[in-house]
Amino acid sequence: MHFKTFQELFRKKDIAVLLREVEAGSGGLRRTLTASNLVALGIGAIIGTGIFVITGQAAAQYAGPALTLSFIISALGCIFAGLCYAEFAAMIPVSGSVYSYSYATMGEFLAWFIGWDLILEYLFACATVAIGWSGYMQSLLRGWGVEIPPTLAQSTLEYTNGEWVWTGSLINFPALCIVALITALLMGGIRQSAWVNNVIVAIKLVVILLFIGFGLSHIDISNWAPYIPENTGEYGHFGWSGILRGAAVVFFAYLGFDALSTTAQETRNPQRDMPKGILISLSICALLYIAVTAVLTGIVKYDKLNVDAPIALAIDHIGASLAWLNPLIKLGAIAGISSVILVMMMGQSRIYYAISRDGLLPLLFSKVSASGVPRNATLFAGIATGVIAGIFPLSILGELVSIGTLMAFTIVCISVMVLRRTHPGLSRPFKVPLVWWIPSLGAFFCLLQMLSLPWSTWFRLILWTLAGFVIYFTYSRQNSKLRKRG
Ligand code: ALA
Repeated sequence: MHFKTFQELFRKKDIAVLLREVEAGSGGLRRTLTASNLVALGIGAIIGTGIFVITGQAAAQYAGPALTLSFIISALGCIFAGLCYAEFAAMIPVSGSVYSYSYATMGEFLAWFIGWDLILEYLFACATVAIGWSGYMQSLLRGWGVEIPPTLAQSTLEYTNGEWVWTGSLINFPALCIVALITALLMGGIRQSAWVNNVIVAIKLVVILLFIGFGLSHIDISNWAPYIPENTGEYGHFGWSGILRGAAVVFFAYLGFDALSTTAQETRNPQRDMPKGILISLSICALLYIAVTAVLTGIVKYDKLNVDAPIALAIDHIGASLAWLNPLIKLGAIAGISSVILVMMMGQSRIYYAISRDGLLPLLFSKVSASGVPRNATLFAGIATGVIAGIFPLSILGELVSIGTLMAFTIVCISVMVLRRTHPGLSRPFKVPLVWWIPSLGAFFCLLQMLSLPWSTWFRLILWTLAGFVIYFTYSRQNSKLRKRG
């Protein structure tokens, strides 16, 4: 490779130019989001399948009642990364999140690499959560005597014993329906989407608080003993290693706060409100997760919680006095999971928008409608998510989401330190405290969790990355606006 070509790969977007572009206008996007909208969007994106499904399963398989400690450990890693996101989102309040930050700090090629990784995170997270939604919806419908035909009830493919097999289903139709519905909602504009999200968040918070409130008086403290069940002899199954494995598993439950930073360009006062939105929503969710886990493992012995709907199981366990709460829990779960899809899909479309604005993806994705919506990007996000959610199984997608997100978090943590050195004079409305410690610890925790994921997940990440390189070298590099400007 010629030296010039090599240099071009690391050409950086000037932060001052980036900020001027944003000040000159929001690129057609509208600044409508307030601090409380951001907190609600954060909670909307964070609380979903994690609390309604993963809590019980992780307690039963890995950590027992000490899953509360797993939630604390995982929250620490997320809060470290969240602080770094907050510094960036306040300093460079543009759409595109880590992609845009990396373009300004590490150059075009690495920005593309991370942007492609963010597409993986949001695309696969939306699909994973849509499949989870389909499962909950079908169980609710079954309760009403409605059965979806098997040819439309699950993903087309399943991955078992290292082989892809056809499940006999044509497509996961309910997953496709929720994706279509949310795409239509997002096409209507961010203000309307934020409003629907507020309603959903209110429903899910009420449901969770009802569970904690009514559950408290039914805790049998003998269920908390032993608090840390003895390790079975296998790494990750109870004992301290189980708490750590549990932390890596429940990490999924915290995902979503980072999607907030993709809306920085649609926030009224991003410098002040972005850090608030990220940190407040993350802290509220961490407290709720810890409380729900304590109540759940206090009502039902942890070894009985390996079920699809552990919270519903706990309510059944209490008996007839709380039977009225069960349908509400299912409703809360369905509503809650819908808002995760909503915010993650919004994040996905904003990443396409930001990358396309720089010419690295076709320019049609950065076209914005009169009502301030990147319509083509949103439609594409909907189609891509629908296809993946309809065909692929949940297990494969979930692990890819985790590895992609952990990589994004690691890069954000490192970039904060790089930028403090390379651009010490930039105005930073929010600063990560203890700057050499917190980002280093954040990156360390994320890398550690990445290493605990199986080789097959790494292999898929490598394949995805290689596909990204092919697109970069055959399309993006030639069409880069920065390159054309010279
Ligand atoms: N945090 C989101 C959930 O738990 C992804 O569903």
